[in-house]
Amino acid sequence: MKTPVLAPSLLSADFSNLESAIKQIENNGGSVVHIDVMDGHFVPEITYGQPVVRSIRNLTKLPFDVHLMVEKPENHIVSFADAGADWITFHIEATAHSHRLIQMIHERGLKAGVSICPGTSVSALSEILEYADIILVMTVNPGWGGQKFIESCADKVAELKKIRAEHNYNYLISVDGGINNDTLKTVLDAGADVIVSGSSFFNGSLKWN
Ligand code: DX5
Ligand code: ZN
Repeated sequence: MKTPVLAPSLLSADFSNLESAIKQIENNGGSVVHIDVMDGHFVPEITYGQPVVRSIRNLTKLPFDVHLMVEKPENHIVSFADAGADWITFHIEATAHSHRLIQMIHERGLKAGVSICPGTSVSALSEILEYADIILVMTVNPGWGGQKFIESCADKVAELKKIRAEHNYNYLISVDGGINNDTLKTVLDAGADVIVSGSSFFNGSLKWN
């Protein structure tokens, strides 16, 4: 995959017309569809789950990046894989079993992503960096679209880039939350490979390319 890529988040789409949202993603530079799953426990809101992923699967060939903001993600890997996920990203804060989850995701032939909240350091990932395909750096607190970018999180992108070079690791660095035309430059300069964007993509303000 030639990076950087844009991964628009369906969270800011019109849920009554997901087909049109997916067309918008395809026609405006999106390479990945980012799907935010919230369970009302790990984060307060509840969004959508496996049935919605399954129902939109045939609308596009673009890969689905399912971002699990859920407790005990180990209970949901198989069902999201079956529903049509291509990448499954879980939060390191939500499980004691991050290594096993990466194995479970890989056994199904999918890409494994691991995410950190703004309050979690890159060092929390040290044991799994060599196995992960994507590291998703949250640049807002997970749970809602339309929040303000947290500047200090961009340093984690640069840190992850440096560690990747030192150890010859392969993960892509993804950023999620508060990306607009100003913060886009900050994260691209820091080395982000995958740019998740919800509100600024769907309100038409984000300039990509
Ligand atoms: C937040 C989600 C994000 C969200 C980003 O918890 O993980 O993917 O859609 O939305 P914006 O781009 O509006 O911050
Ligand atoms: Zn997300």
